[in-house]
Amino acid sequence: MDTLLYVENLTVSFEGFLALRNLNLIVERTERVRLLIGPNGAGKTTLFDVLTGHVAPSAGRVLFRDTVNLAAMSPHAIANVGVIRKFQTPSVFPGHTVFENMLLSAGRKRFVSTLAAWRAFTRHEAIVATLAQMGLAGRAGDLAGTLSHGEKQWLEIAMLLVDDPTLLLLDEPAAGMTRPEKERTIALIEGIVARSSSCVMLIEHDMEFVRQVARRGHRVTVLHEGTVLSEGSLDRVQADERVIEAYLGRGKVRGAA
Ligand SMILES: Nc1ncnc2c1ncn2[C@@H]1O[C@H](COP(=O)(O)OP(=O)(O)OP(=O)(O)O)[C@@H](O)[C@H]1O
Ligand SMILES: [Mg+2]
Repeated sequence: MDTLLYVENLTVSFEGFLALRNLNLIVERTERVRLLIGPNGAGKTTLFDVLTGHVAPSAGRVLFRDTVNLAAMSPHAIANVGVIRKFQTPSVFPGHTVFENMLLSAGRKRFVSTLAAWRAFTRHEAIVATLAQMGLAGRAGDLAGTLSHGEKQWLEIAMLLVDDPTLLLLDEPAAGMTRPEKERTIALIEGIVARSSSCVMLIEHDMEFVRQVARRGHRVTVLHEGTVLSEGSLDRVQADERVIEAYLGRGKVRGAA
């Protein structure tokens, strides 16, 4: 095996309700972005909850880099092996500056060293570089509470990047954004995977957003009722009868041609 993520027969039961049922998913180490779509309640966020140790599976296996059993680990231990997650709503500290938010994020995670001075220096450098990468260099001294919704989302992603994630899980990062902010988010995600070896797993409802990301050749996985309904190129999954069926009642896959 040479997989980044190996999920086999994953099942999650909430008092008998199966939020995930025998879900199988493989993300290869060479993949840069995997898109995860599906109707409301399909189990997308629950999958992220399992991958980050917030929900324990009732059955199944979750292996990271072939050998690391995520299902047996705490959220903290999972973050330390490089699986880092952004929740659906932004959670920055509005009363602190953008730079301070980055410092707080870096401080609570991996920056553990006895060489305090060296640590402070590398932390500072890493923060400056990451803010620049996310287009926030000019906002470093501003209170996070004064940022636009889009900028808050980008700051939160920047706070996660300081950890140098191997697998970055983004749950609807473009929700509530304007179209220009969404375009910017796509460019930033492409920048992240171009400049690092991180793989980004991305949950998104906006089909125009999905289409633009998938155009770069990234695979799409469609979840429905807790299991994988279809997988492959966006063209392939959109042409899949089962996918069209699952989205019936909502017309079609939103924005589909
Ligand atoms: N803690 C919980 N207790 C009980 N049921 C839950 C819990 N978390 C999720 N569920 C249920 O599991 C199902 C899957 O939810 P999940 O949040 O994973 O869906 P989703 O695909 O992320 O949907 P959305 O697109 O609306 O965010 C839903 O029916 C939801 O109500
Ligand atoms: Mg969700």
